[in-house]
Amino acid sequence: MKKRVLIVIAVIVILMVSAIVGSEYYTARPKFCGTTCHIMKKPYDSWKGSKHKDTACVDCHYAPGEKFTPQAKFKGLGQVFTYLAFEEREVRKPTLVSDQSCMTSKCHPQTGTGKESEYWTKKLTYVEYERADKSTGSVPFIHKTHSEKTIEGQKLHCQTCHSHASVDKHFEVSKETCFLCHFRNTKFAEGRAKCSICHEVPTKPFKQDARPEEKPVTHQVLEQRKVSCASCHLELIKGKGEVKPVRCLDCHDDLEMLKDIKDKKKMHESHIAAQNAKCLDCHDSDMQHKKAPHFDAAIQDCAGCHSEPHLYQKMLIAGEGGKGIDRPFPIKHYDMKTSCFACHAKEGHDSKGRKAMRADVKRCGECHTKEDEKSAEAWKAAVETELRAARDAEKKAIAAIEGAKGKAPDKAVKKAMGMLRDGQENLKIVDAGGGVHNKKYSMLLIETAVESFENAITELGVKK
Ligand code: HEC
Ligand code: HEC
Ligand code: HEC
Ligand code: HEC
Ligand code: HEC
Ligand code: HEC
Ligand code: HEC
Ligand code: HEC
Ligand code: HEC
Ligand code: HEC
Repeated sequence: MKKRVLIVIAVIVILMVSAIVGSEYYTARPKFCGTTCHIMKKPYDSWKGSKHKDTACVDCHYAPGEKFTPQAKFKGLGQVFTYLAFEEREVRKPTLVSDQSCMTSKCHPQTGTGKESEYWTKKLTYVEYERADKSTGSVPFIHKTHSEKTIEGQKLHCQTCHSHASVDKHFEVSKETCFLCHFRNTKFAEGRAKCSICHEVPTKPFKQDARPEEKPVTHQVLEQRKVSCASCHLELIKGKGEVKPVRCLDCHDDLEMLKDIKDKKKMHESHIAAQNAKCLDCHDSDMQHKKAPHFDAAIQDCAGCHSEPHLYQKMLIAGEGGKGIDRPFPIKHYDMKTSCFACHAKEGHDSKGRKAMRADVKRCGECHTKEDEKSAEAWKAAVETELRAARDAEKKAIAAIEGAKGKAPDKAVKKAMGMLRDGQENLKIVDAGGGVHNKKYSMLLIETAVESFENAITELGVKK
């Protein structure tokens, strides 16, 4: 009896083992992957048309030695489960390809027969493009430098760059990764953003028909004279590649995790080196490097030329920014979040004849009373009168400082000049911000300014 039970058990075990081995063989064949699951159809087709068509799916998608482990089976099953549960479009499982799969001795070992492999050290041609003069330019790439010189915390995997980016290629190196790493948080054309590390800088003169005695301007001449490359190439690099906290929530539920978001070393170590995250899992994908209309880039950079337009109106309404005034004095409109259009509602023109929405005092009356329509005018006049008086005080302070130079101690002159500047800054807010936007604060600014001017004179020991 006991013997029979043992035989039955033995038969069952044998059957199970052969089923597993059989399915292992069966499921390891590329055809299984390509035909059984329809989510594999596109990857299968792109693999078939690639240089790797003679390498089996599992040789890349399982790390060497991993194939027969339970974890690996789970990964495979996971793929089938997502396939069963969802439509093709919705299935997005991150695909893992371990570095060891790529770097086995029969494929792309870093070191071959005693020396480093060619692909590792050679200057490869990454892309070719058409230059402005129709000649062909190219951008090189060297693996070795990219494993040696990298930015903090980043140990790149093969898959970080060689990834699936378009339908018809199984994997390719997309430019976004290069541009993010080379241009984010860099000074224009410096360090790893220096043009010449990727391009040949032209040597031809800008003026094609220049005579030799003209000393034609070339890129090299500009470089010697330290002309900023941004003068003419600003538009080529756009975007920031910022990391917004909301992106972290794609993968993490725990808000605690976000506290390390500024720690780039840790972020890169724990996600790139230790995991297999893609750069754009965290960084915005807006980093671009290509030709664009060259005025736009300059004009859009308002802050490159001046402080924010209407900064002073904002400061005045918010009652902030005055020197020597230690708390804000907002007008009620600010607290109630009244926008500029509450009053600026009348079509008109500015002093240069361009269209501009002017303030319409009828609006004051709509919210307040008809009487208040007049107060705007009255305030404007009152502020202007005070401002004129303050300008006189300013002139006296300037004269006193000029007179004291070389006579009064340097330290006193310096201190007086600081006071003068503080006062002038306050007057600028009123002048440029339009006193009418917040009369109370304007008056306070003027008063504080006049005090500063007087203190400057006192500091120098000059009689007022
Ligand atoms: C920083 C990005 C980056 C990383 C990381 C990277 N590669 Fe590459 N690789 C490239 C680029 C760019 C090329 C050249 C152009 C192309 O093939 O698209 C290239 C080309 C290759 C080539 C073809 C070489 C030839 O002679 O044409 C091989 C093989 C290769 N990589 C293997 C690897 C392996 C293995 C790893 C991981 C150890 C790796 N790469 C990591 C960017 C990268
Ligand atoms: C030479 C190694 C290699 C071979 C062989 C290979 N793959 Fe891939 N596969 C990759 C790499 C690398 C990626 C890109 C991973 C990434 O984007 O991070 C990839 C991506 C994929 C993806 C994800 C595509 C997506 O939409 O993100 C699937 C699915 C896939 N492979 C299935 C297959 C199947 C099925 C086969 C066999 C028919 C196969 N692979 C053969 C290396 C390989
Ligand atoms: C993880 C960040 C990172 C990524 C991604 C990256 N690079 Fe680099 N690359 C660097 C750093 C850092 C250097 C070293 C710069 C230096 O010497 O100051 C460098 C150097 C270079 C050089 C100089 C030549 C050399 O010695 O290798 C070239 C060319 C280059 N990269 C092209 C590329 C291209 C093309 C890509 C995209 C396929 C790319 N890089 C992706 C960080 C990166
Ligand atoms: C990390 C390497 C790298 C750096 C640094 C770099 N470029 Fe490029 N550049 C590229 C690549 C890659 C292309 C892409 C060509 C393409 O899109 O096919 C390119 C394209 C261009 C083009 C052609 C654009 C087009 O749309 O046709 C110009 C011009 C150019 N770069 C100039 C510069 C200048 C000037 C600098 C310095 C401010 C610079 N590059 C810095 C890699 C680089
Ligand atoms: C007076 C304007 C001007 C300045 C300043 C300038 N460039 Fe250029 N640059 C050009 C023009 C024009 C071209 C050729 C036309 C084109 O590619 O759009 C060019 C082309 C290039 C290219 C060739 C890109 C390719 O197509 O292969 C590189 C690289 C480059 N410049 C680098 C620099 C560097 C580095 C500096 C700073 C030292 C600089 N340039 C300063 C006007 C300028
Ligand atoms: C593509 C998915 C993904 C994204 C996006 C992502 N993480 Fe992670 N993160 C992981 C995985 C996977 C781990 C490792 C497993 C773990 O520790 O939970 C990890 C680990 C961490 C850790 C622990 C690191 C350690 O070594 O202790 C922190 C902290 C963290 N992430 C914060 C962030 C922050 C902040 C962001 C946004 C900038 C972010 N993560 C974006 C997937 C992601
Ligand atoms: C887990 C999220 C995450 C991933 C994935 C990630 N980064 Fe970052 N990266 C950050 C954070 C966070 C910072 C630091 C904060 C900042 O610069 O906004 C940062 C900073 C940077 C910087 C600026 C470095 C400096 O010196 O200021 C560069 C460049 C960069 N990352 C490139 C990359 C590249 C290239 C990849 C892909 C190989 C990548 N990052 C992947 C989160 C990530
Ligand atoms: C190349 C430098 C430059 C850039 C870039 C620039 N501005 Fe100006 N802007 C000026 C100068 C200079 C004046 C002063 C004109 C004057 O006083 O006659 C000015 C004046 C103004 C004025 C006051 C009205 C006037 O014409 O006097 C406004 C408003 C203004 N700019 C808005 C902007 C905005 C918004 C942007 C970005 C979209 C911008 N500017 C970008 C140089 C620039
Ligand atoms: C409570 C009503 C009100 C609000 C809110 C307001 N303004 Fe005014 N603004 C005025 C009045 C009244 C004048 C003076 C009109 C006059 O002299 O004819 C004026 C004048 C100006 C002027 C001077 C040019 C002109 O039209 O005379 C500018 C510029 C200006 N405001 C911008 C702004 C901006 C920007 C905001 C929002 C940050 C704003 N204003 C908010 C009422 C307002
Ligand atoms: C959109 C409606 C609205 C418009 C337009 C408006 N106000 Fe007001 N204003 C208010 C409200 C509401 C308050 C706060 C409640 C109160 O004081 O009755 C206020 C407060 C004020 C105050 C008290 C300031 C303080 O800080 O205590 C003055 C003065 C004033 N407004 C004058 C004006 C003048 C002058 C205009 C036209 C240039 C104007 N308002 C336009 C709604 C408006």
